[in-house]
Amino acid sequence: MEFATRTIHFRQPADPLTGAVTPPIYQTSTFEQTAPGEHRGFDYGRTNNPTRQRLEAVLADLEHGQHAAVFGSGLAAEHAVLQAHLRPGSGIVVPHDVYGGTFRLLHRVFEPLGCRITRVDFADLDALGAAIDTSTRLVWLESPTNPRLLVYDIRAVARLAHERQALVVVDNTFATPCFQQPLDLGADLVVHSVTKYLAGHSDVIQGAVIAREAAVFEPVKFLQNALGGVPGAFDCWLTLRGLKTLELRMERHANNARAIAEVLDAHPRVRRVYYPGLAGHPGHAVAAAQMSGFGGMVSFELEGTPDEAARFASSRTFFALAESLGSVRALISVPGLMTHASIPADIRRTMGLSETLIRLSPGIEHARDLVADLVSGLDALAPVAAGRAHAAC
Ligand SMILES: Cc1ncc(COP(=O)(O)O)c(C=O)c1O
Repeated sequence: MEFATRTIHFRQPADPLTGAVTPPIYQTSTFEQTAPGEHRGFDYGRTNNPTRQRLEAVLADLEHGQHAAVFGSGLAAEHAVLQAHLRPGSGIVVPHDVYGGTFRLLHRVFEPLGCRITRVDFADLDALGAAIDTSTRLVWLESPTNPRLLVYDIRAVARLAHERQALVVVDNTFATPCFQQPLDLGADLVVHSVTKYLAGHSDVIQGAVIAREAAVFEPVKFLQNALGGVPGAFDCWLTLRGLKTLELRMERHANNARAIAEVLDAHPRVRRVYYPGLAGHPGHAVAAAQMSGFGGMVSFELEGTPDEAARFASSRTFFALAESLGSVRALISVPGLMTHASIPADIRRTMGLSETLIRLSPGIEHARDLVADLVSGLDALAPVAAGRAHAAC
């Protein structure tokens, strides 16, 4: 069965009781038991729920996994993985530019508990190999990364990690299973901010963990119930609905991203474009090898001042100035002032986060409107002096 068909048909039969083709929302906190301790597979809503269970089955299938657990947010999902696989004294290796929320979770929650966090450039495989030692339990990466859309070679990272007995976790939020299946590339666990493309409509906060092997998944599943960070049935139903158009939406997001990247790349007010689909992007070849599409995100550095970047981002017609991404509606953000503001400025600099970096999440609007909105804003800025450096990245 092809991807688009699976998003609609896999484990999604009509309701056997009524024939309803849309699944019911089991909006219940508890389930009647036939005798004490005897039930029909569901006893309490934190532990399990039929709507949630259906979503978990679909997500496991789309990621080519065997098991999935959904959570009340992407960070709750990440927390469960970290709690399940790190112990005081154990280490985790992450890229320099790991997502700001993951960075905060690691440094503010797990480091004080005695875990060792090592940040390294995942494009430098020798440095990565040297950073993984016998205490390393997890090697964690996103690809493409947030917000600079750097691409890391998941297969090569997994090989290095496994040689040293560490598990590999891939945050697949940006690529989605529509464009990339990390478990096929050697990852042990996939995490998602379902909030983004998977749900897709800016109306759900949710996360997921997917795995193939029961041994790495079971401790996460235990914590889903033990920590209790589960989503409600209605949110699971919304995600099931969103997933049915995932492929359609991703194709449109990706086409819009490409159209925007190409126009930005030629604009004198743009210093650098970050989009893995551009031939000049350093991760272009790896992206082409491990992804079936280059994703729907574009970031760029404005040739100008941080003030200009903030004004540009605040005054677009179709791009709402908002955190988050992956919505049918176009969104724009200034990561240094918004999503990554919790990271100290000196560390932000080591992550390569320029003060004029702008992140775009094109929606499924028409490309012409989105491009025109951006170009009119750039053209309205004062012209820059000739001879500036320009780079695609
Ligand atoms: C790559 C990535 N991972 C994880 C998260 C956290 O997800 P959530 O906001 O659903 O907790 C985000 C949120 O922006 C993200 O961009």
